[in-house]
Amino acid sequence: MLHHSTRTSSVKLGNPTEMTIRTIYRMLQALKFVPLVVLFSAALAAQTATQPQRIILTLTADPAHSMAITWRSAQAEATPAVQVAVASAAPNFFKDAATVPATPKAVANTELKLSYSAVLKGLKPGTQYLYRVGGDGAWSEWNGFRTAQEKPAPFRFLYVGDAQNSIHSLWSHTIRAAYAAAPDARFIVHAGDLVAEGFDDKLWGEWHDSLGFIAATMPSLPVVGNHDLHLAVSAGDGDGKVKNIFAAPLWTANFTLPANGPAIAETPGQSYYVDYQGVRFIALDANVWANDSYLPEQRERVSAVELKWLEELLKTNPNRWTIVVQHQSPYSVGKDRDYDEMRAALVPLFDKYHVDLVLMGHDHCYARTRRITASKPAANGTVYVISVSGPKMYKVSNRHAELMEVVRENTQMYQVVDVEGDHLKFSAYDATGVKVDEFTLDK
Ligand SMILES: [Fe+2]
Repeated sequence: MLHHSTRTSSVKLGNPTEMTIRTIYRMLQALKFVPLVVLFSAALAAQTATQPQRIILTLTADPAHSMAITWRSAQAEATPAVQVAVASAAPNFFKDAATVPATPKAVANTELKLSYSAVLKGLKPGTQYLYRVGGDGAWSEWNGFRTAQEKPAPFRFLYVGDAQNSIHSLWSHTIRAAYAAAPDARFIVHAGDLVAEGFDDKLWGEWHDSLGFIAATMPSLPVVGNHDLHLAVSAGDGDGKVKNIFAAPLWTANFTLPANGPAIAETPGQSYYVDYQGVRFIALDANVWANDSYLPEQRERVSAVELKWLEELLKTNPNRWTIVVQHQSPYSVGKDRDYDEMRAALVPLFDKYHVDLVLMGHDHCYARTRRITASKPAANGTVYVISVSGPKMYKVSNRHAELMEVVRENTQMYQVVDVEGDHLKFSAYDATGVKVDEFTLDK
């Protein structure tokens, strides 16, 4: 039974206004009444423009019983809502759909597009659902998702590094190849720098267009990179640009994420965690150890609060596996980069609590370490992976070369990770589907 919902007995197949316009349009076409055909064609196009856009699923803190959905509309919805029903091949599945009210998101938006979100609760574990979003204006198509099992069970997920640049032109084929390679993946880990400028709504449009229906059917697990942060212009300060430390409002507009992160006023919701079928995924905002925009007082305070939160999650993790997702790497191979403060802060915790895998981006290359502890190869140590899915590429430096197992430059990549009981299999592919790297971790 869904909480905070009402049953509806009159879920209609489509928007009545749209259906009427379509019927008249077809009649006019049949009569070859050209001027009116043109007129109604425009009406149909306008109707399409009001369809819900940028529909995206995100995991919640309880993925076996809930799912978060975010979308935006071209016009304000008086009664924004999600309708959801247990999936069935019988096309009248929607007769039992529940209607869950959605909430408008307070977002500064230059194109008068309005964001809405709803968290579906009280769902059944391991169950396939169909849902649509909208309201009184127009409804989306019915999209599907599956809830997690309550207990550890085999699953796979996708992981991609920075999309960031030429997203529409050159990221689209890579993320679609990833989806085609693992359409049964349960979600997509995005390791930061999803776009080059987090405040630019056009870039988010490219990102959503590239994902298309994938975002509406396969949840995302994003972590904030430095480019996803707000960029404020301040006259007289160096190049006139000052980076801030909190995600642009559009990050909040695009994603409805678990509110279980550390209590930090400036960066609400930028770190969170999800337990999924035997794995604890910790999305960690690592900018505090890599971004020089922090004031000294902020850096000290934010770092301390994040570390305390992180250690508590690692110490109390009831799952077999621990995977940390963050943007910058403590073992960066980017030119002129070496995050020694991050290494000093995070690696002792990762070592102490035996983190299995750390998934990252930022260096615009592929670089995967051996298993390491205390920055040295060790039989049961942690594996650190840097990857990139977009077209911006960096040369790999020799820093930490002794820790690296596989390094690749100038290659758009995606990764498929399979978790099954005591075994984890990691497979890295280039954008054409050629396997570049593979390793397994066994408990
Ligand atoms: Fe980047």
